[in-house]
Amino acid sequence: MSHTQVRPPDLDASVRKVTSQTLREKKRTGQPISALTACDYPTAKIIDEVGIDLILVGDSLAMTVLGHETTLSLTVQEMLHHARAVRRGVHRAFLVVDMPYGSYHTSIADALRNALTFVKEGGAEAVKIEGGSRRAALVEELTAAEIPVVGHIGLTPQSVLRMGGYRVQGRTLIEIEELLADAAALEGAGAVALVLEGVPRELAQQITSTVQIPTIGIGAGPECDGQILVLHDAVQLTFDAPAKFVRCFADAGALLRDGIERYRDAVTRREFPADAESYHLPRQIAASLQAADMEVFTAS
Ligand code: KIV
Repeated sequence: MSHTQVRPPDLDASVRKVTSQTLREKKRTGQPISALTACDYPTAKIIDEVGIDLILVGDSLAMTVLGHETTLSLTVQEMLHHARAVRRGVHRAFLVVDMPYGSYHTSIADALRNALTFVKEGGAEAVKIEGGSRRAALVEELTAAEIPVVGHIGLTPQSVLRMGGYRVQGRTLIEIEELLADAAALEGAGAVALVLEGVPRELAQQITSTVQIPTIGIGAGPECDGQILVLHDAVQLTFDAPAKFVRCFADAGALLRDGIERYRDAVTRREFPADAESYHLPRQIAASLQAADMEVFTAS
């Protein structure tokens, strides 16, 4: 094993590992699938311990943690760096890594090489790619190479230049037909799940009842088999107004700001660190220094 490989942590026998089969079973039995994005070790560990089923190292991290305007500039190496950190925190959840823009657009060979890198070095259990029918051949190739694929259709942020902005998809009859065909093509090609983003609730419901694989919605209404949110949106660690479909479940931004302000104030008032937060010389050493009249070392 090369030193760059990341192995999933050994599983506690009491923890039932979530796999693509678990997700399928959840769909079959009508149990909702919970999913969130993560991009670092601490958030991944918390999300996993809470029992979220699917963790996505989403390329939205380009915007939420790297401060870019879009997801387009994110590289394979940057994604790998985050995937490895997340991998170290995840024991139970199904771990999906987003293929960044450009990592699967040049050729099937390039896409295979990059996807294999995410599996072998980033510990991905599946990769996610954006796009519908036009990705079917690629999904087949990745699946044939034993790499599970999650499809992503509807509002696909990597298409922002072509779409001319971020807008809800599937609102015309033509778009509805296209998205139904996209879902069927991806399922036929072997995708293990489908992210439906930014589509009307009614269309997401129709797709969900048509395909056998689980649908995970974001801005796609409550009838999807599961829901995903970007963690930073869900806990309000963002700086822009949230989209209509986002619900903020905590105000982590305010909590962090408050803690950081209190730290700043404690330092500037010399209240931090207190004596209890300081180390001291061992008594004996302090005593001998005192005996040698080195008052500066006299223990208080
Ligand atoms: O990158 C991401 O966070 C995503 C989710 C929006 C599904 O693709």
